[in-house]
Amino acid sequence: MSVQMKSILVTGATRGVGEALTLNFAKKGHVVYALARTRNQLNSLVEECGSEKVIPFEVDVSKKEQVEEAIAAIQRDYGVPDVLINNAGVVENISFAEQSIEMIERIVDVNLKGALYVTRCVVPGMIARGSGRIINVSSVAGTRGIPGQATYCASKFGMNGFAETLAQELLAKGILVTTICPGGIDTPLWDPDKNPYPGDKARIMKPQEIVDLIEYLLDQPKGTLHKKIVMFPTNEWH
Ligand SMILES: NC(=O)c1ccc[n+]([C@@H]2O[C@H](COP(=O)([O-])OP(=O)(O)OC[C@H]3O[C@@H](n4cnc5c(N)ncnc54)[C@H](OP(=O)(O)O)[C@@H]3O)[C@@H](O)[C@H]2O)c1
Repeated sequence: MSVQMKSILVTGATRGVGEALTLNFAKKGHVVYALARTRNQLNSLVEECGSEKVIPFEVDVSKKEQVEEAIAAIQRDYGVPDVLINNAGVVENISFAEQSIEMIERIVDVNLKGALYVTRCVVPGMIARGSGRIINVSSVAGTRGIPGQATYCASKFGMNGFAETLAQELLAKGILVTTICPGGIDTPLWDPDKNPYPGDKARIMKPQEIVDLIEYLLDQPKGTLHKKIVMFPTNEWH
């Protein structure tokens, strides 16, 4: 990665892990197609990194027309991205019996269907080119049940099942699919009022740890597939 510049599509680019990924890669000279809903935060990324390094797209990944339109524009104007990072996600911490149908729909639509839509739009171009990397930011909630996160777990188990199949389908086509299942990361996802981190905040992982891992993965030669990585702070167990 340090020598060869890449084009990297990041969903959920405006906060937390996605923001850290965008700033890291853009500041190292790569081009980042940054997708998220919040225009002013997308603009801040462009101001900080330069309009040639961060190309912003105001997109709700749960809206398939918006996804199709943005990715068609990326591929028409810039080409098929070298790397896709499916990172956009939402969480609610509330028992399933209390989750509204709207809440259930939103979590599945963003975390699972959003990743499927974006990947479906990017994959044919990667196949035609014969290369690409897809990184899915899943969760430890995709590896085990967590009370209060039934729908979130369903969305992340879904993502892991999707990724498991996709990795097999695409391996022979020169495309590597890796899924990362992190535990607690210090991001705005942990809202002190609505969704406080249940453990010791002093020991939670930093977004940069996920960035460093993804950078490492993208730096590796294509002879080895890192299929699924489960990682969590040592004050958690999954
Ligand atoms: N933080 C953790 O402890 C943790 C642990 C394990 C896994 N994860 C996963 O890591 C990923 C990143 O989470 P984070 O902690 O960085 O969360 P975050 O700080 O809350 O950021 C979430 C990002 O997703 C974007 N997003 C939300 N809904 C979207 C939509 N409908 N369309 C497009 N973008 C949308 C948000 O941007 P806009 O609001 O501007 O759209 C924001 O940039 C998620 O998939 C999450 O499930 C997080």
